[in-house]
Amino acid sequence: MDPLYKCYVSITVPFKALVDGLTFQMGLIARCTNGKTPWVLFFCLISFLTFNIVYYTDQTCHEDKCPLTRESKANISTQSNVISPNEVTIGPSMLASNIDLDFGNEVRHVAFLKVHKAASSTAQNIFLRFGWTRNLFFVMSSTKTIFGYSNMISNVETLTKSNILPTPKNKSFDILCQHVIYNKSAFDYFLPNDTIYIGILREPYEQYKSALNYFRPSYIFRKIQGDFPASRYIRDPLKYEPRSIFTSWTNNRQALEFGFPPHLFSKFNTSEVNMVLENLASEFKLVIISDQMEESILLLRRYLHWSMKDVVFLDKNVAKNKKESTLVQWNDRQFYRQWAKLDYALYEFFLRKLRAQIRDQGPDFDDELILFKEVRKNTSIFCLNNPNKDDILPIDESKWSGPFNITWEDCELLTMEEIPFFQIIGERQYGSLDM
Ligand SMILES: *[C@@H]1O[C@H](CO)[C@@H](O)[C@H](O)[C@H]1NC(C)=O
Ligand SMILES: *[C@@H]1O[C@H](CO)[C@@H](O)[C@H](O)[C@H]1NC(C)=O
Ligand SMILES: *[C@@H]1O[C@H](CO)[C@@H](O)[C@H](O)[C@H]1NC(C)=O
Ligand SMILES: *[C@@H]1O[C@H](CO)[C@@H](O)[C@H](O)[C@H]1NC(C)=O
Ligand SMILES: *[C@@H]1O[C@H](CO)[C@@H](O)[C@H](O)[C@H]1NC(C)=O
Ligand SMILES: *[C@@H]1O[C@H](CO)[C@@H](O)[C@H](O)[C@H]1NC(C)=O
Ligand SMILES: *[C@@H]1O[C@H](CO)[C@@H](O)[C@H](O)[C@H]1NC(C)=O
Repeated sequence: MDPLYKCYVSITVPFKALVDGLTFQMGLIARCTNGKTPWVLFFCLISFLTFNIVYYTDQTCHEDKCPLTRESKANISTQSNVISPNEVTIGPSMLASNIDLDFGNEVRHVAFLKVHKAASSTAQNIFLRFGWTRNLFFVMSSTKTIFGYSNMISNVETLTKSNILPTPKNKSFDILCQHVIYNKSAFDYFLPNDTIYIGILREPYEQYKSALNYFRPSYIFRKIQGDFPASRYIRDPLKYEPRSIFTSWTNNRQALEFGFPPHLFSKFNTSEVNMVLENLASEFKLVIISDQMEESILLLRRYLHWSMKDVVFLDKNVAKNKKESTLVQWNDRQFYRQWAKLDYALYEFFLRKLRAQIRDQGPDFDDELILFKEVRKNTSIFCLNNPNKDDILPIDESKWSGPFNITWEDCELLTMEEIPFFQIIGERQYGSLDM
């Protein structure tokens, strides 16, 4: 390792982790302190301080605590074949049925652009399971939190040498599916040249409401008094927006994460926007539209030559009891449409593209869709009813899939949240954090 680079990393990594962490936590704090009882405030303060002390000290790069030295650990663990069965309870042997015709052709290099609050955790679980069961190598954030390995590379920038952990010698990345801002040249630099790019988008107003509910942006909920701060905000957003578009959760966030050039956020230019969209369309094989998740995922299955078992998913991370009525008013939508021009252009462009891609598949696509819905329903019922370790849900052979079984282990992976999932992946790739 170049000593100059090492030195650079040892200074920038902890600093950036702190800044990233703080931006993220501001949202959490704002949510947390909404309860307003002294008890809650006290608890929030204590968690905040603990979080930061641990977070920061963990990042400080001393000798064997330095992220870079984990490269040597990875070097060792790849040689001893990665995983000892006792370390992780879920084994790597749950390959999907290999009766599927295309199995030998399956795409194993995938970049999934995980956009915030676009139902992307649901889709992400598919990539996590696919890579995990085949022992593929994931791009991992170099940031650590009290939870261990982080599930987020960056909210404010694209892939860099300092925000991800290195690959071991003679190994390359297979799958990227953590939050990071898109930039084609940066992605190309780190990922193999045959990587397939997959994105995700959600109907912009739904995405906005979800971001309000989840992040409770302080520039809205702290700054604006009264009953409907977001309604006041959306009637004059520029008055309240943070100075940097990257720290906003409500300024065309989906376009921002898709790497739209910053100047378009202050001045919409139709011809330039169309150029950006055409470029994205040539770079992304598929952009999942989360309002049409099942259709999108079946296209994904067909494009990547994955099996039906690989792409079964359960509905995850869906906010329960969203009190929408306390966040927005009925006529906010029209103001949001005027404000979020980039997000609407992006969404409508890829929604049209998805519909065209589905039409290209021919009538047999709908038959597969009907079957897929049934497989998903049966799998949900099976997994959500606490199966025993030796229970099995058999799925019959069909035109699109060989027969396969859903087991208890499959359910564990299907229902696993992303943070625990990245712990087992991180441990497999780089070893335990506190070693
Ligand atoms: C990785 O392993 C190779 C071969 O054993 C060794 O030459 C090299 O020094 C190791 N790299 C690190 C960073 O430990
Ligand atoms: C890495 O690949 C090179 C060239 O293929 C080979 O000479 C070297 O031994 C490999 N190193 C390790 C650690 O496998
Ligand atoms: C992507 O990153 C490169 C290198 O940092 C930069 O030159 C380029 O302008 C970026 N592209 C976009 C679309 O932001
Ligand atoms: C892609 O990468 C592979 C392996 O690194 C290399 O052999 C191949 O020539 C590259 N293809 C192109 C088109 O760059
Ligand atoms: C929009 O972008 C195009 C192409 O970059 C440029 O020629 C044109 O002058 C821009 N229009 C405005 C109003 O800025
Ligand atoms: C789903 O479950 C029902 C009821 O158990 C069963 O009849 C049906 O064949 C199952 N569908 C598939 C695709 O396995
Ligand atoms: C499903 O499980 C049953 C019972 O263990 C087994 O006999 C069968 O071969 C399995 N089917 C597949 C496709 O793995």
